[in-house]
Formats: sequence, C-alpha cells, structure tokens
Amino acid sequence: MESQRQQKDLVREQFTRTAQIFGDYALASRVEEAERLARMVKASGSDRAVDLACGPGTLALRFARHVRWICGLDLTPAILERARRAAAAEGLANLDFALGDAQSLPFADGSLDIAVTSYSLHHFPDAARTIGEMARVVKRGGRVGILDIFLPADHAISELNNRIERIRDASHTRTLAREEFESHFAAHGLRILETRVEENARSFDHWMLVAGSKPGDRPYAEARRLMEASIPNDAAWFHPRFAPAENGGPARELIFTNTTLFIAGEKI
Ligand SMILES: C[S@@+](CC[C@H](N)C(=O)[O-])C[C@H]1O[C@@H](n2cnc3c(N)ncnc32)[C@H](O)[C@@H]1O
Repeated sequence: MESQRQQKDLVREQFTRTAQIFGDYALASRVEEAERLARMVKASGSDRAVDLACGPGTLALRFARHVRWICGLDLTPAILERARRAAAAEGLANLDFALGDAQSLPFADGSLDIAVTSYSLHHFPDAARTIGEMARVVKRGGRVGILDIFLPADHAISELNNRIERIRDASHTRTLAREEFESHFAAHGLRILETRVEENARSFDHWMLVAGSKPGDRPYAEARRLMEASIPNDAAWFHPRFAPAENGGPARELIFTNTTLFIAGEKI
C-alpha cells in the first residue's frame, strides 16, 4: 500500500512538472495513432467509452469524434486541466474528464462499450489489474484497446531498458513484453481482434525534453551514457544510432526507435 501511494506521488510529480510540454507533444503527435486505435476497436456513434490515464486527452479528444460519449480519467490534476482546455478549444461537448485511478475504475461492471488507454501501462504497479479493470467495465461484445511500448521477453534487455526509462522518468514502472499483453487479454476474457506493431524514429534529446530533462541535467547525462553504451549490441532494444550527418557536419544527433504495440480485443 505504501509503495502504491509512493508510485502515485511519482506519477503526479512527473506529469504536473511536464503537463505543458508533454501535453503539447502528445496531442500534436499522436492523432494518427488514436484514429488507428478507434478503427481497431470499431468505435461508433452509439458507444460510451473511457480513456484511462488519458493525460492531455490524447485518445479521448479523437474518440469524441466517433463515439456518443467518452470519459477521460487520469491521476494528475494538472494534465487533466490541459485536457479540459484542449477539449474546450475544440468545442467538444460529448466528453467529460475525471480524476481517478486506472487501477480501480469508477464504473459499474459491463456499463461501457469501449475502454482504451495509450502509453500508460508502463506507469502502473500492476498492469494486469488495469487490463482486468478495462475488461470488467465493458459489456459483453464491448471492446478493449491498448497502445503502448513493449519489449521482447528477455531478462537482460528488460533490466537495462527499464533502468534507462526510470532514469528518464521516475514514474516508469516496467515495460511489458508483447506476450504479457496477449496473456492478460486472454486471462480477462478478451478475444484478440487485431494486433499491430509500429516503429517510429525519435530524437533522444526530444524524448528527454518532454520528460523534463535537457543536456547538462543528471538524468540526461546518465540515460545518454547508458543508451550510447547499448549501441554495439542493442542491449536495451532501443535500436539507438547516430543520425547521418547533414551538410557534411558531424553526425551527433542520437536517435532511437520507439516500438509501439496496438492491441484490440472483444469481451466474450
Ligand atoms: C505517458 S502519459 C500518457 C498519456 C496519454 N494517454 C497519451 O498517450 O498521451 C501517462 C499518463 O498516465 C497517468 N497515470 C499514471 N498512473 C495512473 C493511474 N494509476 N491512474 C490514472 N492515471 C495514471 C499519468 O498521470 C499520465 O497522464
């Protein structure tokens, strides 16, 4: 219980500090991902939905265009405020936001049609429990959709990858292996409708910036040292490399690959 409380404090600290910079980045860059997940869970005009750990409303704002009603739920008041502002600016009226814990959703069993979440499972103490909550709140035939980073099932890779992630963001708990998503879906009575993997190149500096660190900061230096050391054998599965030099200049921009799993299931 104490560790759960500490984890929530870490989440609120991280996403209060970065509400603006992370919120701007997520809203601007994840539109296509949100639309893809909406198609995968067959979002339609009669559906009532929840986007848990919604952050700045990344999924909720897009889903609001497809469903009857959606609730964005998050633990961090500052980022919910960012979400409310974005919804007001877009004139969206069929969505509400609520402060709450994704590990205990404030919805009755089978009361919704869709439960979705993006880039959040790696912040929970117990990801399986959250997937169980998503399955609980949707009705039979309802859909659950998740998109998140994932890892191969390799202990050494997982150790190093998660160590780098936690240096960058102390509220990171653990990135799941792909097989874990699939087994948690099965364990909670969710028949997989579709899975998909996407890779996107990311700048290391920007990745650190949206988590609140810049060159010269201790987390930046330590994460960069470990990321660079992992280049020769890709020991952390970030696929890091230096971008090709432009205009004959030095090739020093460190980039890596963000590998995202999309998974949609139906409650049987
Ligand atoms: C990396 S952000 C992702 C936000 C958004 N889903 C997106 O894709 O841009 C993680 C979010 O999870 C929220 N969060 C972490 N643990 C949570 C919990 N137990 N319950 C609800 N929200 C939580 C944080 O406040 C933060 O907004």
